[in-house]
Amino acid sequence: MVPAFSIALMLIILGGLVSVILSVSLVMVAIAFIASREDIRSVFDRDPAARSTFEVLTCYPGLHARIFHRMAHTLWHANLKWLARFLSHIARGLTGIEIHPGATIGRRFFIDHGMGVVIGETAEIGDDVTLYHGVTLGGTSWKEGKRHPTLGNGVVVGAGAKILGPIHIGDNAKIGSNAVVVKDVPPGATAAGIPARILDEEKKSGGGFNAYGIGNDHNDPVNKALHGLIGHSVTVDQRIEFILRQLEKMGVPVEEERATADKFDPNHLNKIVD
Ligand SMILES: CC(C)(COP(=O)(O)OP(=O)(O)OC[C@H]1O[C@@H](n2cnc3c(N)ncnc32)[C@H](O)[C@@H]1OP(=O)(O)O)[C@@H](O)C(=O)NCCC(=O)NCCS
Repeated sequence: MVPAFSIALMLIILGGLVSVILSVSLVMVAIAFIASREDIRSVFDRDPAARSTFEVLTCYPGLHARIFHRMAHTLWHANLKWLARFLSHIARGLTGIEIHPGATIGRRFFIDHGMGVVIGETAEIGDDVTLYHGVTLGGTSWKEGKRHPTLGNGVVVGAGAKILGPIHIGDNAKIGSNAVVVKDVPPGATAAGIPARILDEEKKSGGGFNAYGIGNDHNDPVNKALHGLIGHSVTVDQRIEFILRQLEKMGVPVEEERATADKFDPNHLNKIVD
């Protein structure tokens, strides 16, 4: 009697386990189906810890939240508001990321780690934007209409940063971790602190490499042109390095390319120009 009961219990537990594994696999297959290739690629491009597509599909809440938001956003615009809110509520429970279905999000959006991210209803996010955990794109008033921020293309927002109100963050701007941003940030600028201030690029670069192509002599066009060319070479090098990494992932040997690369020192060249 006892062995029969134990066997029955084991079979029930085994059955339960199998059904859990099957359900999880079904959800993963659905995620793999809905996730676009560029969603997955943007994880590899921006998180060196990502190792395989399976890992990205199963272990990245930012990707799951993006997929849920895509569905909720469609429902929102189909005037199925409650269903849209309910779906984003479920997504919040599963991922720790709360994105209002009304928020507009561009392509290749990536939220790393994810937990504690809140994105408000009238927030607008451009392409290639990266957010880390704890970021809030929030409002400061209860008035209807635009009350959340707009982020340009390529913006990076550090962990814990709060961007509040209908302000504009320019293309490729960076927001420091834990910053509280309440005013517009110009394109390419870095803002940090509470309230956030724009970091002084020259002080930041210590008079060496300046990504914006501006040297110590702001009025000399030759000086400006040379800094611009040096900055451009750095960007080209970064792109080549990116291509080499992709080739490496595909199994193409690239060691020789790396070994024979010349030793380009932009800081040294910038100092000579200045
Ligand atoms: C703001 C940030 C983008 C600046 O990076 P950077 O351009 O390399 O600037 P630096 O590190 O040279 O710092 C420049 C100045 O800003 C200060 N600073 C840097 N980050 C800051 C921050 N988050 N808050 C306040 N001040 C900051 C530095 O102390 C330095 O001050 P100083 O000029 O008085 O010495 C970066 O520090 C940051 O916060 N990135 C987000 C990273 C993140 O959230 N990672 C999460 C991974 S899980």
